[in-house]
Amino acid sequence: MKVIHKVAELRAWRRSAGTKRVVLVPTMGALHEGHVHLVRMARELAGGEGLVGVSIFVNPLQFGPKEDFARYPRELQADAAKCEAAGADLIFAPEAAEVYAPDRSIIILEKSLSQVLCGASRPGHFDGVCTVVAKLFNLFQPDDAVFGKKDFQQLAIIRRMVRDLDFPLTLHGIATVREPDGLAMSSRNRYLAPEERAQAPALQQALQAARATWEGGVTGSKQLLEVARQHLALHAPLGKIDYLSLVHPETLQPVNVVACSGLMALAVFFGKTRLIDNIELRRSEDSPVAQTQPR
Ligand code: PAJ
Repeated sequence: MKVIHKVAELRAWRRSAGTKRVVLVPTMGALHEGHVHLVRMARELAGGEGLVGVSIFVNPLQFGPKEDFARYPRELQADAAKCEAAGADLIFAPEAAEVYAPDRSIIILEKSLSQVLCGASRPGHFDGVCTVVAKLFNLFQPDDAVFGKKDFQQLAIIRRMVRDLDFPLTLHGIATVREPDGLAMSSRNRYLAPEERAQAPALQQALQAARATWEGGVTGSKQLLEVARQHLALHAPLGKIDYLSLVHPETLQPVNVVACSGLMALAVFFGKTRLIDNIELRRSEDSPVAQTQPR
């Protein structure tokens, strides 16, 4: 496995890959088992002949002025070992100055899906994500790109970007990898104090309680959200809800009733640490919304 830092090296690698299938896993590093799972899935997609590229870049453009860009963990050596063990062929880990010209003046704006959920409390965040992911798509020219459903809104927005800007690749959405107690793995879990960590599994449990209620025949969003809210009040009193919403899984617009499919998503602050999670509500006869093929 190669670790490179320069755009010119990446272009040379891509040229030498020729017609081999290239599968990209974009990350910001500080890799945990969730990321590693994505790399393994990428390896499976690439097969023996194809190539798996992982980008590790803490993208300044997607952090707000009061967010944790400076303290975001950076641990390239450990990350490289994990990627190699999971079957990656290349890591691209550039400096910010390598990615962004000082007088850069073009960004990608998403105007609909990014206005709700995490986007409502993180203005500009998804424009930063779209801009860097578009650049990575241009640099790697991957046949496939792999993203986690933990960041469901991010996946929906990138799916929209791929469609609207005609990126010739297939996106793959991968189920969230969790700790044994159900907490979604996240680089930010390490910031939780022991009492907060003990309460954090309540996020997923609250969503599961709401889904069980839906499966029991209750379809009104108000009632379903109330089930989750009550669970959180009881089991995660240290958590402050940033949002708790029931939305359409593709448009991400709030729904009043969930007939066939919906997405319940939440963000909860434990102190300064903001955790997100979501759950899909889907009748089993529905086909899974896991892939977007190029048109
Ligand atoms: P990052 O937070 O490092 O996540 C990289 C990828 O790992 C994303 O697709 C994310 O959804 C996935 N991921 C994170 N935790 C996961 C878990 N517990 N189970 C499964 N997948 C998980 O998301 C970003 O970086 C950035 O916004 C990026 C897309 C790289 C653009 O900068």
